[in-house]
Amino acid sequence: MVDISTRLLKKRLKNPTILTSGILGISSSTLLRVANSGAGAVTTKSIGPRRREGHKNPVVVETPCGLLNAIGLSCPPLGESIEELKDLVKKSRVPVIASIYGRNVEEFVEVAEKISRVKPDFLELNVSCPNIEGKPFGVNAEISARITEMVKDSTDISVIVKLTPNVSDIAEIAKAVEGAGADAISAINSCSGMAINIETSRPILANKFGGLSGPAIKPIAVRCVYEIYEDVDIPIIGIGGIQSGRDAIEMMMAGASAVGIGTAVMNHGIEIFTRICSEIEKFM
Ligand SMILES: Cc1cc2nc3c(=O)[nH]c(=O)nc-3n(C[C@H](O)[C@H](O)[C@H](O)COP(=O)(O)O)c2cc1C
Repeated sequence: MVDISTRLLKKRLKNPTILTSGILGISSSTLLRVANSGAGAVTTKSIGPRRREGHKNPVVVETPCGLLNAIGLSCPPLGESIEELKDLVKKSRVPVIASIYGRNVEEFVEVAEKISRVKPDFLELNVSCPNIEGKPFGVNAEISARITEMVKDSTDISVIVKLTPNVSDIAEIAKAVEGAGADAISAINSCSGMAINIETSRPILANKFGGLSGPAIKPIAVRCVYEIYEDVDIPIIGIGGIQSGRDAIEMMMAGASAVGIGTAVMNHGIEIFTRICSEIEKFM
C-alpha cells in the first residue's frame, strides 16, 4: 500500500485530508465520527468569544455547482464550545484544529488564550468569513498581520491563518501574516456571491450576500494556493471545491501540504475522506 501520510508542522497526518471549518459544527461527538471515519485531521466550526445567533433564514442556497451560505458565524457561549473542544481533544486520534474568530484583535486574543488551555493541535484564525458585518479583516494585510502577531504572543500552539480569496492580491496578505509569525496558511474561505429570486425580485439569502463553496470555486482556490506558494515558505492547507482524489492531487501540485474538504462532505457524506484517500493511493 502507498504511504500517503504527510507532515503539517510538527504533527504527522496519516493522510492529507482535513475536515474544513464550519461544515459539521463544534460538537465533539460529530467531529469524532469524522476523525474515526478516515480524515487526517478535523477542524471545528469557528468559535467566537460569546454566543452569536447568526443570520436569519434562509442561510443556504444551492447553485448549479456550489453552495451559497450566509450562516453568519453562529455559535454557543465560549464555555460550551470549550467543553466540546476539551472532549474532542481528549478522545481524537487525529490532530484537532480549533478555528476561532473575534470582532477585533482583543477578542481574537481572548478566545485564543482560553481555547489554548485545552490544547488543540492547531489554532486556525478565521479572518476571512465573507458574510459578517463589514469587510473581513483578511482583506487588509496590516490588520491580518496585527491579529496574527497578537495571537502568536498569547499562545504556544501553532497558528494557521485562513485567508479570503475576495482580495486582489492574496499573496500580499499571505506574506504579511507569515512576517507576523503565522506557522501555516489555509486558503481559501468561500468566495463572496449573491443569488436573486426573479419571481420576487428579492435576494434569496436574508443576508443578501453569502459565501460560495464547492466545485465552482476549485479553480480559484488552486490559483490562490499557487500564488501563495510562490511567495511564502510556510505550509499551506489547500481548501476549495475538492471532491475527489484528483482534485486533492491538483491542489497539492499547486503547493498545498494538505487539503481541506468541506462542501463535498455535505454532498457525499463522511465516507468522502476514505474515498479521496483511496483515489490518491491509486493515482500514486
Ligand atoms: C455551511 C458552511 C459553513 C462554513 N463555516 C465556516 C466557519 O465557521 N469558519 C471558516 O473558517 N470557514 C467556514 N466555511 C468555509 C469552509 O471552511 C471552506 O473554506 C469553504 O467552504 C471552501 O471549501 P469547500 O469548497 O470544500 O466547501 C463554511 C462553509 C460552509 C459551506
